[in-house]
Amino acid sequence: MQKSILILGACGQIGTELTLALRNRYGNDTVIASDIREGTDSLMSTGPFEILDATNYDAMEDIVMHYEVEEVYLMAAMLSATAEKFPERAWNLNMNSLFNVLNLAKEKKIEKIFWPSSIAVFGVNTPKENTPQHTLMEPSTVYGISKQTGERWCAYYHAKYGVDVRSVRFPGLISWKTLPGGGTTDYAVEIYIQALEKGSYTSFLQKGTKLPMMFMEDAIRAAVELMESDGSRLTIRSSYNLGAMSFAPEEIATSIQQVLPSFKISYDPDFRQAIADSWPCSIDDSQARKDWAWSPKFDLKRTTAEMLENLS
Ligand code: SER
Repeated sequence: MQKSILILGACGQIGTELTLALRNRYGNDTVIASDIREGTDSLMSTGPFEILDATNYDAMEDIVMHYEVEEVYLMAAMLSATAEKFPERAWNLNMNSLFNVLNLAKEKKIEKIFWPSSIAVFGVNTPKENTPQHTLMEPSTVYGISKQTGERWCAYYHAKYGVDVRSVRFPGLISWKTLPGGGTTDYAVEIYIQALEKGSYTSFLQKGTKLPMMFMEDAIRAAVELMESDGSRLTIRSSYNLGAMSFAPEEIATSIQQVLPSFKISYDPDFRQAIADSWPCSIDDSQARKDWAWSPKFDLKRTTAEMLENLS
């Protein structure tokens, strides 16, 4: 029997594209999508789907047993901006879902886990440019604290129980198939939508706020390549730094103006500015390049072309 893969949080920004990509790669019936709500037509119509709350261990175990699941991609999480409004709920969701998956692997009920961490693990005292893999980490958001803690637990479960968990620190992700929700980097998706709809955009991040970003196709490829790589070559079992491009709102505006010359940007920063200010500007991902040959394909120009073409 083909190995089964379970995606938790399959209806979110990453989960939707990941599910479709994995179904393409391994076959529709081997990839089980799950979430607390139903997803897009393309997700629902291409393979198995289960309603599943990732904080419910028993329900997760039932599905793992029923489908003989070998690999789990845990994409359910509350993102940085929303988590600041619901700190306890965010902590419970982000941590309990991870423990459930780690414990399933510890009990040898599944074999391999992908779990995304984030640039949110860093903080104001982290070196901002070319942020190293190993550096000072003092996250200031609930989301960042949950991701940093999660990284420590991943490393711990790997060292103590031999759990094969693999992780990357995703930068802000730019996609057009499914929109992000509740993140600080969401402006980099909203800006394309409003450029096409209204010809202008008011950014909730200030001019000059440079953040690491990545086009979704690269992000999905990173997850799949890391999962398919030889585990004995992986030197990082907390989470790999992962880079692609870095830009500030005015730079994305300029790249949009190259296609839509009349596009206008203005700035009205809100509470998300402080979150962005605590995150790195650019990432040193040399360890990922070395260990599993990571290499991004999309720069800002190509991302802008893809976004404007597919959204219009
Ligand atoms: N994109 C995420 C957020 O903004 C960061 O991982 O919350």
